[in-house]
Amino acid sequence: MVGHIPENILDDILSRVDIAEVISASIPLKRAGKNFKANCPFHHEKTPSFMVSTDRQIYHCFGCGESGNAFKFLMRYDHLEFPEAVEFLAKKAGVVLPEYKEKSDTAVSISTQLYKINELAGAFYAANLNSEAGIYAKKYLLERGINEESIKSFKLGFALDKWDALISFLRAKNVPLALLEKAGLILEKQAGGYYDRFRNRAIFPIFDVKSKILAFGARQLPSLDKIKDEHAQPKYINSPETPIYTKGRNLYGLDFAKEAIRQNDYVAIVEGYLDFIVPYQEGLKNIVASLGTALTEEQVRLLKRHTNNVVMVYDGDIAGQMATLRTLDIFIEEGVNVKVSPLPAGFDPDLFVRKNGIDSFREIINNAEKIFDYKLRILKTQYSASDIEGKAKISSEMLATINKFNNAVLRSEYVKSLAEALKVKEEALLQELNKIKPVLPAAHVHKAAGPKKTINMNPTEKLLIKMMMEEAGIVNQIRQELAPADFQDEVACKIVSVMFDLDAQGKTIDANSLINHLGDEYISQVICESAFMPDIAEQRVQEVVFDCVQRLKKEKAKLKREYLHEQIRLAQHSGDEEKLRLLMQEFHHLTKKIPPVSSPVADASMI
Ligand code: CTP
Ligand code: MN
Repeated sequence: MVGHIPENILDDILSRVDIAEVISASIPLKRAGKNFKANCPFHHEKTPSFMVSTDRQIYHCFGCGESGNAFKFLMRYDHLEFPEAVEFLAKKAGVVLPEYKEKSDTAVSISTQLYKINELAGAFYAANLNSEAGIYAKKYLLERGINEESIKSFKLGFALDKWDALISFLRAKNVPLALLEKAGLILEKQAGGYYDRFRNRAIFPIFDVKSKILAFGARQLPSLDKIKDEHAQPKYINSPETPIYTKGRNLYGLDFAKEAIRQNDYVAIVEGYLDFIVPYQEGLKNIVASLGTALTEEQVRLLKRHTNNVVMVYDGDIAGQMATLRTLDIFIEEGVNVKVSPLPAGFDPDLFVRKNGIDSFREIINNAEKIFDYKLRILKTQYSASDIEGKAKISSEMLATINKFNNAVLRSEYVKSLAEALKVKEEALLQELNKIKPVLPAAHVHKAAGPKKTINMNPTEKLLIKMMMEEAGIVNQIRQELAPADFQDEVACKIVSVMFDLDAQGKTIDANSLINHLGDEYISQVICESAFMPDIAEQRVQEVVFDCVQRLKKEKAKLKREYLHEQIRLAQHSGDEEKLRLLMQEFHHLTKKIPPVSSPVADASMI
């Protein structure tokens, strides 16, 4: 798909949209001179290091290295696929994507089609709920305390008690069966043909952050027919994974809750659909549901865009507690402050709010326990803290969590508290802690948010790349002086060689379009970082270019000298007089030819 969109069309789209406008639709931007800045949405920070340049139409975070152009931002922030980001901006820019349109049906991306099908199916289920056939289901939802307004907002629905209700409905709209199957809405019969996956169930559409339907959850209705219960069905049936739905990638309710999460600067995390809907309806808006699965890193990162404070509200029974314990470490690894609010045994948030009201629920959240205290308390209910084995068991479990804290002060404070709580020697705990394999924060961070390799490219090379991106004339000039291979850094060499090629073809070479030509994450990080280097005053540009070129030439000569030096040493060693003579000659020639660079380039060494 990507290859189908010609680069000149991508450049055309990018030239008609403003990156600051695109980004400010998602996060607030503040002016900072020629640029805009913001708290980076891709990692947690208190002071803004996320910069957006309208001149260059790129963004770059000096904290985490995340960078790119408008397409990249949509891909990262809104989790769009590249063709979707292109489609989105093309629409905004009023650019028609020719190859897409001609082949219409077949060429529209699969995800677009699946979203559309989900939209249709969702509307069908919602209409069923308000039809004659849906009376029982509707009554059930209302009895569970879900009001009409929530039913509407969350697009709750009902799947009819038939094998082919949805199939017939969507076939009449000419939706191909193959797509319905891809959407996870129908299943193939053994004898051939298809049947609806969801039947006689209340339907909960699962939305993404933009409120597009990704998938469905379907809850069993209480059965009037006792015999049916013998073939017990699972309480919930959910969509399978599809090209647009991956379990653990999104959080139920986040599209509704994100504003309130920012305002309150914390989020309550619950487990189920109803555990989300009921408190939300009663006024606690900063809440999301994990939908029964253990929280994933991706979900935690999704939340980190909005807040760094999390309160887990889980069932107070043992299963709920154990589920909570398992997920806590993820938060710590991601540097999120996590507290836990266990509910009284037998309660889940939905039931608790219906019984005791939203204010009691808020109180429970306000009294959330720190993770250290919570985990220790739970472990003490499982193992005896008074015998030796119990102490060893508890301390090893606690140390595993303490080890996840990246902050040394926190680690040592927690070790101290643990020593006091278990009445063991702090030293012994520290010894045990040191035995645990250290968590490698760098590797982890890299996995967490894309390109995290630190760039230690020579500033001279970076500066030259920056200047070439800003003035086409300079590319040409440097092309006369240097070869891509004269850039010692492998990535710099690659970027420069693409620039030279583009220049030879008379094409644009700004940062924004270079990113389109060089898809690689790390390369685009280098491009953006170079672009954001301090600007050179116009009257000094030539001087700086000259100095940089000299430096690279000098560097190249130095490497050559070192190489010759080694060759000479080898020749001496082997006693090859003729070879030695030639090498010496070359060596002298080289040393004479290179003028010493008198003063270092101020701008380059400054950075
Ligand atoms: N869940 C699921 N499949 C199941 C059981 C549970 O996907 N067979 C998920 C659902 O997202 C559900 C959540 O786990 O909302 C919590 O499960 P549970 O506590 O069993 O259900 P409740 O949400 O309490 O459901 P209800 O209140 O409707 O009984
Ligand atoms: Mn429940």
